[in-house]
Amino acid sequence: MTLRTLDSLGSLEGKRVIVRCDLNVPLRDGVITDDGRVRASLPTLNALINAGARVVVCSHLGRPDGAPDPQYSLEPVAQRLSELLGKPVAFARDTVGESARSAVEATENGGIVVLENLRFNAGETAKDDATREAFAAQLAELGDALVSDGFGVVHRKQASVYDLAGILPSAAGLLIATELDVLDRLTEKPEQPYTVVLGGSKVSDKLGVIAHLLPRVDRLLVGGGMLFTFLAAEGHAVASSLLEKDQLDTVRGYIAEAKERGVELVLPTDVVVASGFAADADHETVAADAIEQSSFGASGIGLDIGPDTAARFAEAIRGSKTVFWNGPMGVFEFPAFAAGTKTVAQALTEVDGLSVVGGGDSAAAVRQLGFSDDRFGHISTGGGASLEFLEGKKLPGLEVLGWQ
Ligand code: 3PG
Repeated sequence: MTLRTLDSLGSLEGKRVIVRCDLNVPLRDGVITDDGRVRASLPTLNALINAGARVVVCSHLGRPDGAPDPQYSLEPVAQRLSELLGKPVAFARDTVGESARSAVEATENGGIVVLENLRFNAGETAKDDATREAFAAQLAELGDALVSDGFGVVHRKQASVYDLAGILPSAAGLLIATELDVLDRLTEKPEQPYTVVLGGSKVSDKLGVIAHLLPRVDRLLVGGGMLFTFLAAEGHAVASSLLEKDQLDTVRGYIAEAKERGVELVLPTDVVVASGFAADADHETVAADAIEQSSFGASGIGLDIGPDTAARFAEAIRGSKTVFWNGPMGVFEFPAFAAGTKTVAQALTEVDGLSVVGGGDSAAAVRQLGFSDDRFGHISTGGGASLEFLEGKKLPGLEVLGWQ
């Protein structure tokens, strides 16, 4: 079976269409710091508005504990959506209660309402099937059809992502279709040379993706906090840098497998070591096999790849036809340790082929460092979801839409 798309729902004029988006955006003091996911939801929402549907948007935000919590309200997101759509967006103060029912009732053809955070209801994320299904049934009363478009959450077996699609006529939205199209190109016959760049803090989060991609890639570049487990696996001391000792054997296995398969595994040759984890920490660049010889001795912490490594990574990226990048190269939130991530991001903008930035921290990093989205082939809205897709896992929110 293939993915059910919007056309499969027929005419939507006058129909109440629930759209499950992933509007889980970072907020600081109630202000959205990266509205990428809101912007990514626009094509589907505009298509439904233009089709004369009565659009009912729902999403989660953060991880509230199954009860209302004002810091996770979707109200600022509804406001941003209204600005981006250039039209009024109503906001319901609950998800399946009186406010939601009357707001949906009042929504006219081509109108739009955003419901309050789905996760203010314990049923949304319940492990117990019956509890989840009961909440999905309540949601279903608000719509005549479901358009599932929250790509970032398709790896979760949750009421609005999974169970609801089995109750209402359902189809994937345009964002999910685009994401799958791009991510499929990374697994099915990618144009070569194919380079994968992995960073982020923990190697344990990336084991599945490394295992699945090693047989498919030409080069694997490793930066971020996870690089120290690779360096330690090769016998180097890493002082007080992040190290997952329980992963050393697994990482040694990957190093051996890369060699056997002829995959070029590119590890850092220099790193930026700091006196502590702070924006203004003293720091210096040292060779990757001499981390403990920095001025900070055994208390030094590696917080970025060094300039030689960044230049080698950039060259490998620029010389590729397909590049997938997930995870910052260093602590990019601190300007002193953002250079490696910036160099990698810049190189991705220069790829003559397909460049894909995995979601989550890498997407936040490129935007925070001032790169506009259109300089990359694609910026995924899925962090965990895109990784699990690339691990070859079956994702519940896609399976219910016919994807196999
Ligand atoms: C994400 O940010 O990766 C998605 O919105 C999923 O959020 P979750 O990890 O809280 O389920």
